[in-house]
Formats: sequence, structure tokens, C-alpha cells
Amino acid sequence: MPQEKKKTSDKICLVILAAGQGTRMKIGIPKPLAPIMNRAILDFVLDTCLDFKHQKSHDALISLVVGHQSELITTHIGQEYPDEKFHITRQMQQLGTADAVKSFLDQCPDAMSYKYTFILSGDVPMVSLAHLEGILEEISTRHLKAVVATVTTDEPTGYGRIQTHDSGLSIVEEKDANAEVKKIKKINTGLYVFETQYLMDCIGKISNNNKAREFYLTDAFQSGREVGAVNFERGEDLLGINTLEQLEETTKRLNRRNLIKLSREGVRFWDFASTFIESSVTIAPGVVIYPNVIIEGNSKIGAGCIIGPYCHIRNSELEEGVQIKSHSVLDGCRVANKAEVGPFARLRPEATIGNKAKVGNFVEIKKSTIGPGAKISHLSYVGDAIIGDNTNIGCGFITCNYDGIQKHVTKIGKNCFIGSDSQTIAPVEIGDNCFVASGSTINASMPAGSFGISRGRQTTHLNMAQRFLKVKKDI
Ligand code: UD1
Ligand code: CA
Repeated sequence: MPQEKKKTSDKICLVILAAGQGTRMKIGIPKPLAPIMNRAILDFVLDTCLDFKHQKSHDALISLVVGHQSELITTHIGQEYPDEKFHITRQMQQLGTADAVKSFLDQCPDAMSYKYTFILSGDVPMVSLAHLEGILEEISTRHLKAVVATVTTDEPTGYGRIQTHDSGLSIVEEKDANAEVKKIKKINTGLYVFETQYLMDCIGKISNNNKAREFYLTDAFQSGREVGAVNFERGEDLLGINTLEQLEETTKRLNRRNLIKLSREGVRFWDFASTFIESSVTIAPGVVIYPNVIIEGNSKIGAGCIIGPYCHIRNSELEEGVQIKSHSVLDGCRVANKAEVGPFARLRPEATIGNKAKVGNFVEIKKSTIGPGAKISHLSYVGDAIIGDNTNIGCGFITCNYDGIQKHVTKIGKNCFIGSDSQTIAPVEIGDNCFVASGSTINASMPAGSFGISRGRQTTHLNMAQRFLKVKKDI
């Protein structure tokens, strides 16, 4: 029986610091909005806070501290999380992390009703529920005033170092550290949990008497105080993103986390390194995914599907046993059981491919329904069309759907044979069981069971030869 998730009865507040400018990114938008796997860095932090709120606490408040280009951030969360309510703190000037927290305490009148306050950074997308639970457990079981999440790294440069004392610990910022302190490998990740009362008591007393002239939240950690640390393994997950290089590294780690989860559920990957799958995608156990595949958005891949190499799939649903062969691009489409697509096929939005239908190489399908068992095997464009069950479409077929102003619909019935190199000029309707001769241009509707042929003047071998001779003579 699944165990009921244990919830804490304490009121909890989660404050995400996102007011900084993030100048090192050089992308012209606030760092928390920098895109990582099609979402903003901040969204991953918000998701973790929301998970915590829904799973762990009966009563939790999430506050976002904004400052630099704050409208962009508030607009973004309004769009991404229309159903969630976040508290917004405005930090007028970015005077340091302690000032950011002070702004929150000043602007949230009932802050004191939350027993614990978490502080997170808006630039650490891989922060997880386990990290939050880990520090909460430490502060509550050991009855501490503050707990910081730390990691041990061989490259501590730039981070606050954790100095341990007989009692408690202190955090020394890089700029203020002497050579001895700089050797310390245990660093501050910027994730903390405080007893809100303690935070309230000490925040106003923090000064900016340091090299950076900033109000450091880290000054809340001092020797002799009841403060502690939890050191986490896989420290890279808790390090903030400051540069585009770190953004790229984090993208790969985040992706790998998604792939590991899927492979534990039974999805078979040839190569983690070249496969990118967003966490929004669902894939059934047993699916096989070749190298160089990207699957994004709201995509669902059913049992028994095989996704060949170099395929790009977005917002698409594949039922069971579907084969997508190499170099195919699918966007906003549905593919029913046992259909085959590709290689080199392009399915555009609103393409619906029926059971056991076949869409072959260099075929583009847009806003069309392809009936069960129908075949469009080579070099065709099908747009705004309905193709009936078991109809066979030859090579080089085109639905001429656009008259320069409007798009028009083509309907082709069941069990038809459409010869190669044919075109239909829409709007046009071909009934069931029709036969269209190769090379025909069909611009009038055909009743069921009829034969259609429309070609230019018959060209014979003879007059071809005569023409050729004439051309030679002219030269
Ligand atoms: C901070 C820590 C450092 C730690 C590091 C981890 C302090 C003083 N130092 O340094 O010990 O190792 O994080 O990454 O806290 N922010 C605001 N308002 C401000 C200043 C910052 O909202 O006035 C936000 C930033 O947007 C960012 C977070 O706070 O999300 C951290 O600020 P940042 O300036 O990046 O601190 P670090 O110098 O990295
Ligand atoms: Ca930082």
C-alpha cells in the first residue's frame, strides 16, 4: 500500500531570491528567466517549491524577491503558473542577500506566522525536494536556528567557505577570505532554512562592513550560535548558474536526470549523451530510442514504439507500436497504433496518422487525417486533406491547397489508387474506390468508383526525336 506522505504541521515559508542582475550571462534578460530545456531556470526552482508545498506542508507560502527587470519575471510567472498564488517581494536596490531577505520580512506582514523560512536562489534549477527535506530535518530534529546546505568541491573559488568552530560555523565570502580560508573546500550553496524568529532577530543587525559593501545573509551564521550545515553529495546539482557555460553543463545534467528516471522505468536508450528529453514527456516502458533524438513538450510515446536516430518530436502523441524512422520531424501530431513514419518525414501540426498507415520518405503532412492502412510512401505534400482508409498514394503527389489567399480542403475516399506525380487542385473531392492515372492534375471532383486522367498532349518518342534534331540544327 502506498505510504501516505508525511506532512509537517509547521507553517513554512519559501523565499526565492531573484532580484540580482546576472550580468555574467550577457543575454539581456534576468538570469532566472534564462532558458534551460525550453523553460526558465526559475521555473524549476518554483516547481520544487510547489512540490514541497503540495507534498510536505499543510501551509506554505512561496515568495519571490524581484528587483532587476521585475516586470519580466512577474509577467512570466503569471503566464506559466496562472493557477498558483505567489507572494512577491520587491527589493528596491540590490544591496545584498541579507537586504533581499529583509525586504521580504518587511513586506510580508504575517512572515512571523511561518515557523521556518527557507531561502533559495532563483538560479539553481536542480534544487530538489530531497535538498529541502534534508535541511528541514536537520533544523527540526536538532532544534537549530539556521541550517545551510553545503557541498564539498575541488573548485571552491567564488563561493562562501564554511568555517567550522567548536560551536557552530561561520561563512566567509571569497572577497573577505584569507589564503588559509580560501583552501577550505566546503562551500555555501546559498540554500538555507531559518527559524523565522531567529532570522527576524538577526537580519537588522547585519552590516555591510565588508569588502563588497554588501549586506551578506551569510553573516547570520556565526560561531557560538545554534547553526548547522548539511553537506550534500552530487554538489553540482546545488551550484547556481552564472555563465552560459554553466547553463550548458546544467542542461546536460538536468537532461541526464530525466533520462535516468525514464530508463529506470524501462525505456531503452542507445546513448544518453546525444538524447534530449524534457521532463514533461511521457514514455512507456519498453520503448527504444536511438541516438540523437530530441523529444519535447507535451509528447506521449506509447508502448512498443521505436524512435530512430536523428528524430525531433514535439507536442506529439504516438500510440502503441509506432515506428518513427530516422531524421523525421513531428510537431503537434498524432500517430495511431503500428503506423510507420519516415525516414525523412515531416508531420506538421494537426497531422493525424491512422492505424498501420505509412508515411514514407520526404513526405510532408499538415493539418490532415490519413486513414488507417493508407500509404503515402514517397516525396509528397499533403495539406488540409482527408485521405480515406487503405488508399495508396503514389510518389510525388501534391495537394495544391493554397490559391494565394485561402487554404482549401482535399478529400480522397477509401481504397483509392492515386498514380504517381499527380496533383489535386483544392477544393476537390475524390470518392471511394477511385483510380487516378499517373501524371494527372485533378481539378474537378470525381464520383465514387471513377477513373480520372488528365495529361497534356501525348508526347511520342518520334516527335521528341524530331524536336531534338531541330534544336541541334538551330545550334
Ligand atoms: C552567495 C553567497 C555565497 C554562496 C553563493 C552560492 C552571500 C553573501 N553569499 O554569493 O556564500 O557561496 O551565493 O551561489 O549570500 N540576490 C538578490 N538581491 C541582492 C543580491 C542577490 O535577490 O541584493 C539574489 C541573486 O539574484 C541570486 C542570489 O540572491 O539569486 C545570490 O546572489 P549572488 O549575488 O549571486 O550571491 P553570490 O555572490 O553568488
Ligand atoms: Ca550566485
